[in-house]
Amino acid sequence: MTKTLLVTPGDGIGPEVMAQALRVIDWLRAHRGLEVHLEEALVGGAAIDAEGAAISAETLAKAKSADAILFGAVGGPKWDGKGFDNRPEIAILTLRKELGLFANLRPATVFAPLIDASTLKPDVVQGLDILIVRESTGGVYFGEPRGIETLADGVRRGFNTEVYDTREITRVAEVAFDLAGQRQGRLCSVEKANVMESGLLWRETVQSMAKDFPSVALSHMYADNCAMQLVRNPRQFDVIVTGNLFGDLLSDLASMLTGSLGMLPSATLGATDAHGKRPALYEPIHGSAPDIAGKGLANPLAQILSLAMLLRYSLGRPADADRVERAVVAALEQGARTADLGGRLTTHEMGDAVLQQLERV
Ligand code: IPM
Ligand code: MG
Repeated sequence: MTKTLLVTPGDGIGPEVMAQALRVIDWLRAHRGLEVHLEEALVGGAAIDAEGAAISAETLAKAKSADAILFGAVGGPKWDGKGFDNRPEIAILTLRKELGLFANLRPATVFAPLIDASTLKPDVVQGLDILIVRESTGGVYFGEPRGIETLADGVRRGFNTEVYDTREITRVAEVAFDLAGQRQGRLCSVEKANVMESGLLWRETVQSMAKDFPSVALSHMYADNCAMQLVRNPRQFDVIVTGNLFGDLLSDLASMLTGSLGMLPSATLGATDAHGKRPALYEPIHGSAPDIAGKGLANPLAQILSLAMLLRYSLGRPADADRVERAVVAALEQGARTADLGGRLTTHEMGDAVLQQLERV
């Protein structure tokens, strides 16, 4: 059956990098028999401008019925200060929450041709291959109570709640244990069990699952130490599982170990339903980069690699996923570089470089 993809380019460089991913889809249609139905919708600031909300009810309904979402990026200074309840980021947060996309997979892989782009020494990052599994529908991002209140003495107070229950911890840890089992078999669970009760429960819950995954070596680490260890000796990690906020910070940190934020894709997966359908969203780790938007400077590789993850996890096309990933590496080997990688190619030219390699690899 033909699967439906919802494509949401979003703001800033989102539409530019998405255009290159769509060229790859066209190539796969023409040369590899990919059959896929595409729908497109506005999200983020673009949707605020045109439809009055960061994600409309209609777009949310389309997202729910699609087999997967290919997401660009949202946000930009234009929408700063337009109100906390109408900010572009609500689009991605709503999609995660409403579709139950609780497991955010964020790989940090060093591409051999780019080893010198890292700010760390090559011998520290060579061969680096970390997967961060970030919980993405809970924790302090969504916990209640939350708000800003004014106390009797006129002092204002902002508050959020970090909260995790065992069901939320178990389901994301299960994904992480499974993935660790398919990789190098090492899982590091990260929290602040020395300070926070939610972290203590996290640690105890993950520890209690270890016996069900005998092939995985489980360790625990405090989040601050993890940040330090990621810079000191990142190759000690295989899979990291952590909550929403720590995962947000640590995945940005880990991505920069690889030299370019513009290179890294992510997948956010939900639970498989009774019909075998698993909601999933694929997006680059980078943001909307408003400073370079519209200039044709953006690196489209993270968006193209997000499409590769989509082919693998949502369309059951691992051979095509491999091919796209090989084409990206081959383009880099040929010296293709956008500005963020120290080169001069435009976004479209980088797309050309990948398309050329798709024919060959
Ligand atoms: C991310 C982003 C989002 C987050 C923002 C855009 C809401 O930083 O996906 O990491 O904080 O989760
Ligand atoms: Mg982030």
